[in-house]
Amino acid sequence: MKSLPRLGVNIDHIATIRNARGGDHPDPVAGAYMAIQAGADGITAHLREDRRHMRDDDMVRLQKLCESEKVPLNMELAATSEMLAIALNLRPKAVCIVPERREERTTEGGLDVAAGHNQIAPIVRALKENGSRVSLFIEAVEEQIRAAARTEAEVIEFHTGAYAHALDEGDYEKAAAYVEIFQQSAKLATELGLEVHFGHGLTFDNVAPIAAIPECMELNIGHFIIGEAVFLGLEPAIHEMRQIVMDARAV
Ligand code: PXP
Repeated sequence: MKSLPRLGVNIDHIATIRNARGGDHPDPVAGAYMAIQAGADGITAHLREDRRHMRDDDMVRLQKLCESEKVPLNMELAATSEMLAIALNLRPKAVCIVPERREERTTEGGLDVAAGHNQIAPIVRALKENGSRVSLFIEAVEEQIRAAARTEAEVIEFHTGAYAHALDEGDYEKAAAYVEIFQQSAKLATELGLEVHFGHGLTFDNVAPIAAIPECMELNIGHFIIGEAVFLGLEPAIHEMRQIVMDARAV
């Protein structure tokens, strides 16, 4: 069998549920532990500037958990000096730089690395020198892929939100076109020495064509897994996602 993409489970929305009541339950760190026990290869969490889900203290507890369980913590953050300082202090195994707008409901669109090189490249360098593997969350567009390589980030994560949305709308042609773009973009990125990840809006129904892309080394999936955990439980939701990924890769 061909090598499998790692499954990073994003636990932000356990914190969203907790924060709806302002207390401590459900604890996203307890959820991360369960996800690791269920076979997650990594834990992903986004410390947003407005702290709408994860809080600073969650990140500290998550880093301790991931260190002791020997599973990478992938911290998503905006390219700001505040977030850089937090990540330098926390030293997560991985950092994914994402665009952030306060009014957005979730991360809409990829980072404009081509226009933002002078802001992003020094952050990439500082994080790498501090021991974190750096990823840039971008659209699958040649200009952005080449710009990402110029920052010397090790990884890019392609934003799959528009692909997922096309399928939600029943536009199968558009979704198929996105898959082709992802295939070509993943090849180009790999040629440029970048490791390729994918994430955003992935579900049991739409993950297979993405997981089947041979260059895909990691999938980061949050909202759907946490939502499905309400019905199935976290462990079965993770197991089912893993099975679909394995089947997609085995074909
Ligand atoms: N990857 C990145 C870079 C993200 O910002 C997010 C959303 O926080 C995800 C993956 C996960 O997206 P979703 O919650 O839709 O699965």
